[in-house]
Amino acid sequence: MKVLLVGSGGREHALAWALSKSPLLTKLYCAPGNAGIAGVAECVPIPATDFAGLAKFAADTRIDFAVIAADAQLVGGLWDVLEAAGIRSLGPSKAAAVLEGSKGFVKELCDEMGIPTAAYKRFTAPDAAKSFADSLGYPVVIKADGLAAGKGVIIAGDKSESHKAIDFMFEGGFGMSGHAIVIEEFMEGEEASFFALSDGTNVVPLAGAQDHKRVGDGDTGPNTGGMGAYSPAPVLTPALEQVAMEQFIKPTVAAMKAKGMPYMGVLYLGLMITRSGPKLVEYNARFGDPECQVLMPRLKSDLLTALVAARDGKLAPLEWRGDVALTVVMASKGYPGSYEKGHIITGLEDAAQLPGITVFHAGTERRGKEIAAVGGRVLNVTALGKDVAEAQARAYEAVKRIHWDGAFCRTDIGWRALSR
Ligand code: AMP
Ligand code: GLY
Repeated sequence: MKVLLVGSGGREHALAWALSKSPLLTKLYCAPGNAGIAGVAECVPIPATDFAGLAKFAADTRIDFAVIAADAQLVGGLWDVLEAAGIRSLGPSKAAAVLEGSKGFVKELCDEMGIPTAAYKRFTAPDAAKSFADSLGYPVVIKADGLAAGKGVIIAGDKSESHKAIDFMFEGGFGMSGHAIVIEEFMEGEEASFFALSDGTNVVPLAGAQDHKRVGDGDTGPNTGGMGAYSPAPVLTPALEQVAMEQFIKPTVAAMKAKGMPYMGVLYLGLMITRSGPKLVEYNARFGDPECQVLMPRLKSDLLTALVAARDGKLAPLEWRGDVALTVVMASKGYPGSYEKGHIITGLEDAAQLPGITVFHAGTERRGKEIAAVGGRVLNVTALGKDVAEAQARAYEAVKRIHWDGAFCRTDIGWRALSR
């Protein structure tokens, strides 16, 4: 099969790496890709935002299957555009991607299906929002209803912070996504992610993972896209994974089908494990980044076979390795704010020779014989080990060999698992 993967981050490198090993694959293309992806796929310089260009390339090249990795493309309807051009693709469709695109929709679906989540209300004007926030007590969570590039959530510690945040959102602080906001109860607990794959009717579990969203050690500082992850996550016991499937994922897939927008694709369930049990934080319509980088090394089954089966309504259970995978994100100084681009990276080959190590590229570009750091998140140094401690030691051993001006990473990825 000729396959087109759309995207350019560390998640896409991990997917390209797994797809490249498939016995079904004859040729892998990635648009636009990065310097690491270029090692396993032919990169084509079409931006992921150019839906017409991607559809034309796929049709001209006779692509047999397309994999869309990122939320912006899924919520924007790239699946619908590619399928209309006759290209079988991993979804979800634009309609079904509402599970990621609208927090309000998800909250209503939770009510309907009895899925546990924080108490909430949706508002389109500030005054009522403020009184509801006051009535919940503090801290309280204020969210823009829509995609806000992962930045649409403010946790307000007191009344004045909360009223300021509500005004900020209604004044367009997060752009279009702030026309409606969701105010919800603050849930205390440990967060974990659980992934499943659905064909619209059937759904199979993938695996669990835990991400580190704050930029600083000990989970301090501003939120990021994710500074590291590991899988499996010990907080998600086998019993909790079963609860995730039976009480969250399966009712959601059934409800989407009943509403006439069957959910086909990867479903990412963000959970808060509270004292009164697991509660839904959010759904995403895709793999996580960097969670995907720790799922792919653990997947024993063929990824391409599974994704095509999801598209064609023929899902079968997948097999996973018992090993732990852990990834450390190496980022450019300044991230998640502004950072310098173009510094040359050294030590990549040296690091890749260590046992159990795969270095996925997130923000890199080839400059002649060298590779430059051009993103906020630049590399995902990923290790397999028999347990979290071994995977962590291996990953940080590899990190030590990689350098560029302004590189930094968290030094404590995996701490929650190790402190249990
Ligand atoms: P979301 O975009 O909904 O995933 O929210 C981003 C992050 O905000 C989550 O990963 C949580 O860390 C935090 N968060 C969101 N909702 C809540 C909540 N109700 N209680 C506590 N933390 C939350
Ligand atoms: N790592 C969080 C996400 O992909 O949304």
